[in-house]
Amino acid sequence: MRTTHEQRHHHGWRRQAAALAATTGLVLTMAVALANPAQAASTLGASAAEKGRYYGTAIAAGRMSDSTYIGIANREFNMITAENEMKWDATEPNQNSFSYSRGDQIVNWARNNGKQVRGHALLWHAQMPGWAQNLSGSSLRNAAINHVTKVATYYRGKIHSWDVVNEAFADDGRGSRRDSSLQRTGNDWIEAAFRAARAADPNAKLCYNDYNTDGINAKSTGVYNMVRDFKSRGVPIDCVGFQAHLGTGMPGDFQANLQRFADLGVDVQITELDIQQGGNQANMYAAVTNACLAVSRCTGITVWGVRDSDSWRTGANPLLFDSSGNKKAAYTSVLNALNAGNGGGGDGGSSSIDTGAWYVLVNRNSGKALDVYNLATNDGARITQWTRNNGNQQQWQFTSSGDGYYEIRSRLSGKNLDVSGKSTADGGAIVQWTDNSGANQQWRATISNGYATLISRHSGKALEVQGASTADGANIVQYSSWNGANQQWQLVRVG
Ligand code: G3I
Repeated sequence: MRTTHEQRHHHGWRRQAAALAATTGLVLTMAVALANPAQAASTLGASAAEKGRYYGTAIAAGRMSDSTYIGIANREFNMITAENEMKWDATEPNQNSFSYSRGDQIVNWARNNGKQVRGHALLWHAQMPGWAQNLSGSSLRNAAINHVTKVATYYRGKIHSWDVVNEAFADDGRGSRRDSSLQRTGNDWIEAAFRAARAADPNAKLCYNDYNTDGINAKSTGVYNMVRDFKSRGVPIDCVGFQAHLGTGMPGDFQANLQRFADLGVDVQITELDIQQGGNQANMYAAVTNACLAVSRCTGITVWGVRDSDSWRTGANPLLFDSSGNKKAAYTSVLNALNAGNGGGGDGGSSSIDTGAWYVLVNRNSGKALDVYNLATNDGARITQWTRNNGNQQQWQFTSSGDGYYEIRSRLSGKNLDVSGKSTADGGAIVQWTDNSGANQQWRATISNGYATLISRHSGKALEVQGASTADGANIVQYSSWNGANQQWQLVRVG
């Protein structure tokens, strides 16, 4: 193999670091500390990512040409929801005639800027197109399921989480289903929608989303009972969204409510947060942030708009930026809470391997996660590091192959971490490949102080981030083990 300039540089750096390690451990410790970016982040998205969460906003296509607006959205947020553009009336204005241009405008912008997308919303009694409002019974049911299938199929692979069903419970104090034409097609309409969504996009997380469910009350208990029933019968549901359109007070059991849902085995997300100004806005924003950080299955927070002037709540000034785009006290309060948070205790590195679990592997040097690049499912696709988002492309399961070695399998692709071409060289690429029980797919895991070193059975070399890079997309390779921070991985259990 030809040695490139870059590789020579890389090897030189290695020798230097190894010499340092041999002569003065102190210097190396300091170098590692400096290379570790887990310091106070300066944007909401970056800070949330350090805690294994996302921080998102809703975007309106009509405002995207406003440079202040789009500049803030791009700088601060790493999860994007279309405020209206992916709803039923927008995506299927005439029956079986689909229109994705405005949704695509948002989805493409988000993806081109390294952000993920929450899909909102497949079925909702509001913002149904006129033609669907005129249907009932089986013709409405068929049209609704067709809508779910078509839209989820169109966006397959691009959506982190879908709000499959939105606001299906009533505010009647009894936890009943909302009376709607969809509900009148039969009580099983919600589970039918979830099954159709799973079939259409098996990798998107499927959420139920509602408002006035932020504390423990009759409505949230109605949703809770539905989710418990779905889990017990194997109806595919992965997450529950809490809109959190809050006034000047918040339920004292906000966190406990998130936790009781998480305990059912679903993720929870704050999906449309906005808080009335004039009360305790900044502190309430911090309290919501802290509640999410304290629940390990709370995977992220989305605010419902960028500036106060962008909000659907006219006059409430409920967002994090004022109408000129300046950061408000509420913004600082959220950022400080994110930076101070400890990740909710769900984020510690495991000290042993559970072969039934799914783990995100977080690199000690970069803080980034082991990731199947670009959601690939093919043999030979490269493995990189990427900002942690807990997606299936960042989840891995260990299967024992005896003698302390494990195969490490991607949740996205079902393929194993593999030393490409059975290389034994330093710098040999790590890819994913169909399980073939080869020694180049087996890794010895040694966990010390919460960090695992993974050594290839085939080559004896360690899994590392090439060149101790801290960039998204940096390659994962094998390299002689030297106990560098870029060769150490925190195993964070996520499932
Ligand atoms: O763009 C048209 C404009 O051309 C037209 O002249 C005008 C006439 O009223 O309407 C404009 O569209 C409005 C659209 O927002 C864009 O501003 C719609 O009327 C209006 O109904 C729509 O409101 C949206 C609302 O959902 C619909 O119920 C809000 O933007 C959106 O923030 C809001 O979001 C919902 C979530 O989807 C679900 N949870 C509650 C949340 C707040 O209501």
